[in-house]
Amino acid sequence: MPDLSRRDLLSSGVALSVSSLLARSAWGRTAALLASASKDDSAAALAAVAPREQLLFDFGWKFQFGNSADPAHDLNFGKGQGDFAKTGDFDFAKAKFDDSKWRPLNLPHDWAVELPFVHDEEQQSHGYKPVGRRYPESSVGWYRREFDIAASDAGRRISIEFDGAFRSVVIFVNGCFIGRNDNGYAPFQFDVTDFLEYGAKNYIVARVDASFGDGWFYEGAGIYRHVWLTKTDALHLGKWESYVRPSVSDGAAVLTLGTIVENQGKQAEAAKVSWQILDAAGKTVATAESPAQQVGVDGVASFTATATLSEPALWSVDAPNLYSAIVTVEAGGKARDAERISFGVRTAVFDADKGFFLNGKPLKIQGTCNHQDHAGVGAALPDRLQWFRLGVLREMGCNAVRTSHNMPTPEWVEACDRMGLMMMCETRQMSSNPEGLAQLEAMVKRYRNSPSIILWSIGNEEWQLQNAMSEEGARIGATMVAKCHELDPTRVVSAAVNGDNEKGVSDAFDIIGFNYGLDRPDKYHAEHPKRPTYGSETSSAISTRGTYSTDPLRNTVNAYDGVVNWGETAEEWWKFYGTREWEAGGFAWTGFDYRGEPTPYGWPSINSQFGIVDMCGFAKDTFYYYKAWWGKEPSLHLFPHWNFEGKEGETIPVWVYSNLDEVELFVNGVSAGRQKVPHLGHVEWKVKYMPGAIEARGLKDGTVALTEKRETTGPTSQIRLTAERKEINADGEDVAILTIEALDKEGRAVPTANNLIGFKISGEGALLGVGNGDPNCQESDKEPRRSLFNGLAQLIVQSTRHGGEIHIEAFKEGWDGVELTPAKLTIKTNWVKTRPTA
Ligand code: GAL
Repeated sequence: MPDLSRRDLLSSGVALSVSSLLARSAWGRTAALLASASKDDSAAALAAVAPREQLLFDFGWKFQFGNSADPAHDLNFGKGQGDFAKTGDFDFAKAKFDDSKWRPLNLPHDWAVELPFVHDEEQQSHGYKPVGRRYPESSVGWYRREFDIAASDAGRRISIEFDGAFRSVVIFVNGCFIGRNDNGYAPFQFDVTDFLEYGAKNYIVARVDASFGDGWFYEGAGIYRHVWLTKTDALHLGKWESYVRPSVSDGAAVLTLGTIVENQGKQAEAAKVSWQILDAAGKTVATAESPAQQVGVDGVASFTATATLSEPALWSVDAPNLYSAIVTVEAGGKARDAERISFGVRTAVFDADKGFFLNGKPLKIQGTCNHQDHAGVGAALPDRLQWFRLGVLREMGCNAVRTSHNMPTPEWVEACDRMGLMMMCETRQMSSNPEGLAQLEAMVKRYRNSPSIILWSIGNEEWQLQNAMSEEGARIGATMVAKCHELDPTRVVSAAVNGDNEKGVSDAFDIIGFNYGLDRPDKYHAEHPKRPTYGSETSSAISTRGTYSTDPLRNTVNAYDGVVNWGETAEEWWKFYGTREWEAGGFAWTGFDYRGEPTPYGWPSINSQFGIVDMCGFAKDTFYYYKAWWGKEPSLHLFPHWNFEGKEGETIPVWVYSNLDEVELFVNGVSAGRQKVPHLGHVEWKVKYMPGAIEARGLKDGTVALTEKRETTGPTSQIRLTAERKEINADGEDVAILTIEALDKEGRAVPTANNLIGFKISGEGALLGVGNGDPNCQESDKEPRRSLFNGLAQLIVQSTRHGGEIHIEAFKEGWDGVELTPAKLTIKTNWVKTRPTA
């Protein structure tokens, strides 16, 4: 966490005097990536054996704000002493309670993103949202829903499982207190079998209190991840106990298989466990069995086996091949419980001399750190957005993400597994206290089968444990690392350290991560030649998309090479990590802009400007630096735009990011010179601005390979609406992600347009959120209107559960002296077999 008061901001020195934009959407080409991701064909195989039901519990909730200071506005919860005195006394979780005035909604839901911004410096980290102890009216949310439990469910074990909620949750079912959870990122579940009414309606209530936070960035508020209702036999597999550990040698993989069976039934059972291994096409490629064991009443038993895959299709960033294991427990002659584990076969090795190897081949980690929020939706992302965001990052050659600074949502990990991005998976609390270890255990058990995860991180920048409390730090670190190794002997453990890594927590790490401080790794490597290192957090470059001046009055940062004084520009850090063979690579702070921590300025900025892309995923210019040096294709990017009305005659820096040999710049048809592109660098010219056009011609082996042009456009006169996908699933979850652009009469994108655009959405879909990537925009994320920011805005529309069409109209709202021809777009929503819901 940067202490803004201690650090000089904007130290890059190049404060350029040009204003405004250029921006291009990076996600246009992600469709192919998504289509090429492995298909999940094992669901059918599971359905054939599984007496288990896992039902999505997201739909049909009611919501109302409570109050953390006044019980009278908090369903009288805590009004007197006796709330918890007697079991079954919570009337708000009973049939007779009237919730007809509560707001109906579906999960995932983040109420913080719906709140207005407040100018309160204490709320800066949270993106100026009124959530916290001093905002009692908007810091507690009550969720309630009714659900049916069939009479035939009697005798099964029934659990309610939360993938994560922010933050302190108290759960009630049918008038009874069930349990609590007290952190914002780890999953939690409760067995509610004893509290249900069978063959009747049941009621669940969750009181979610976001008064305390876990981090120093926007964290959302509410049940912002999925909820599940799971029904199993009384004899069942333990939660997240199943693992598949491939070890590869000589073209074969030996799979070490393990699980735990729990017996909550009334009699001892002779249980045996079998594994069926399926390839991505659903073909059985191996089987294994563990002999029957007696599992006593209330007992647990551990089962292991091995299987061999000959010539396995390895998981890699280019070919994310996945396998599934169907784990089945049988007793009394029938399958009693089963689950599907998705896994991949690969090796991931960090070497102190040679860097990182995936499947024996050297691979630089070209990573980005990311928080979990997005424009329009805050922390409550529909699953599809995970794919979209990773598609944007992959487009620039990013091959790894760090889940800074908390356990990720399962769909983020799954998207990495399926799309072929590697992951550094980080827990929130660096501590060996019960809560810290429980969070860590949940993370490792939950995700240890995911091939995308190449290392665990036990935390970030714990300056006490690195320095003043280094002895405690060494013990805490050792306990946490040992816990990871015990649960997952296949992966290395590390953390992100903003120090010299010479003592404290670092003692225990398998590999050493450096945050910033490019003066440290060389020295460390020389003194500890046997310890592999990588950049756990680098860069912290800052820029405002499409803006070419650093202007503290407008809270903008030039899009050339702004950086905070503890950071490095993209070129600086990549020239360092990208050129040392022994460095495994690193993770730039950050891939996406994120809410909160509004660096380098405070109010009225509401989000950070560290992103290589903005909050919507629109590319900033630096995106193309990475694309040139991380990507595999020839690339060339010319900036800035060429709309500098009022700056005629002034000198404008013109930059090109390219991986070609040379670039020649033409200004209004006249050559301004040809330059060799330095390795991992860029080329630049100083040009006197006159309206017209600049053009860059990139040469490879002496011939022009790529060109790009920026023309002075006319004023905006029309709106263009494009969708990432024009057909989506009618499952009530899928989203279409639309880009809104301003065009001039000739159809050229106007890079400086900031018109307010209104939206009308009809048919089988609804608005989920809007954004524009402007770090200083305080317009609502939930209203059907948004100003363009430097020519672009984003609209996220979600399907209903009925197939049909969603009609979207975009038109100019308000009066700013121009007429814009509106735009219309239709998204088709296709009937699909929806996942089972409760
Ligand atoms: C780091 C910290 C990140 C973020 C970043 C901004 O020190 O780990 O969470 O605050 O600084 O530069």
